[in-house]
Amino acid sequence: MADTAGLRARNAAFWAAAAAGWVRQADRQDQVGRPLGAAAMARLAARPAERVLDVGCGCGGTTAELAAAVGEAGTAVGVDIAEAMVTAARRRFPTDRYPGIQFHLADIETLDVVPGAPFDAAFSRMTLMLLADPVAGCTTIRRSLRPGGRLAATVFRDGGVNPWLSATLLGAAPHLGPLPPLPVGEEPGPFSFADPTRLAQVLDSAGFTAITITPCDVVLDAPDDAELVAEWLVEIGPAGAAYRSAPLDGQASARAGVIRLLDRFREPGVGYRLPAGLWLVTAIAADAYDTPTAGLTHQRPRQDEHR
Ligand SMILES: C[S@@+](CC[C@H](N)C(=O)[O-])C[C@H]1O[C@@H](n2cnc3c(N)ncnc32)[C@H](O)[C@@H]1O
Repeated sequence: MADTAGLRARNAAFWAAAAAGWVRQADRQDQVGRPLGAAAMARLAARPAERVLDVGCGCGGTTAELAAAVGEAGTAVGVDIAEAMVTAARRRFPTDRYPGIQFHLADIETLDVVPGAPFDAAFSRMTLMLLADPVAGCTTIRRSLRPGGRLAATVFRDGGVNPWLSATLLGAAPHLGPLPPLPVGEEPGPFSFADPTRLAQVLDSAGFTAITITPCDVVLDAPDDAELVAEWLVEIGPAGAAYRSAPLDGQASARAGVIRLLDRFREPGVGYRLPAGLWLVTAIAADAYDTPTAGLTHQRPRQDEHR
């Protein structure tokens, strides 16, 4: 396994290269990808006038949902490591139409606290499993919450319950140039939290308590447009950058390869139904922890529940 600095550099480079595809697919991701975060959004139940944080906000769709929930008297802050995505988020959700919304370009792992802290609540959709040092990233989140502040997030479970992810990669990769390194063992990647015990340990070490991790099965309903669905999934996956730099005939072959392997998820005339297996994670920022300026020693919190 690469060291943390190497993994962090790899993660930053990956998202810098992937960002253009995510920006192009931002509206589709907001619509079709909605079920990926809906359970965490509901569990967080952001209230008017609260201050909420969105970690790994991408192109800002979920931050805008949070901004709507907290209203004009509240604040919704999105943080992301990819400059092009933060720029897109600011363009898509300007402050004159979304009062209280802010976007920051930062690596959540290396921030002391997120600007605007303390927050009442933190949300994250499909990001925590990608962190090079998840304890560092989750510690920043916990430090940025007020004591007792709540976290609700989703991450993928394992590849078996998310078969469209490997189908997309296997369909596209043979037609494209070199891909970024795929994760080994517990290196950051879509399935690095397949084992919920590891996820619970990360949150525990980061200073969260009342940890719950429950399976959450959703279906992504995509339109019955094979080319469009194939391109969406390739562009938001590990082959996205290689796809964009491929010649047009290579791109077409990659889409055709993906379309073949996704056929089992297609209901002709209806659309694609992609099953996604997630963990829904909730936790509370333990109040036994210091703030970064208080200079107190961290204590380990009680680890409550996970399954
Ligand atoms: C799988 S995408 C999910 C984006 C968005 N939450 C969504 O569900 O559409 C993961 C996001 O996390 C961001 N990210 C990855 N590592 C990060 C880090 N260390 N700090 C902040 N953002 C990070 C990426 O740039 C990317 O936008």
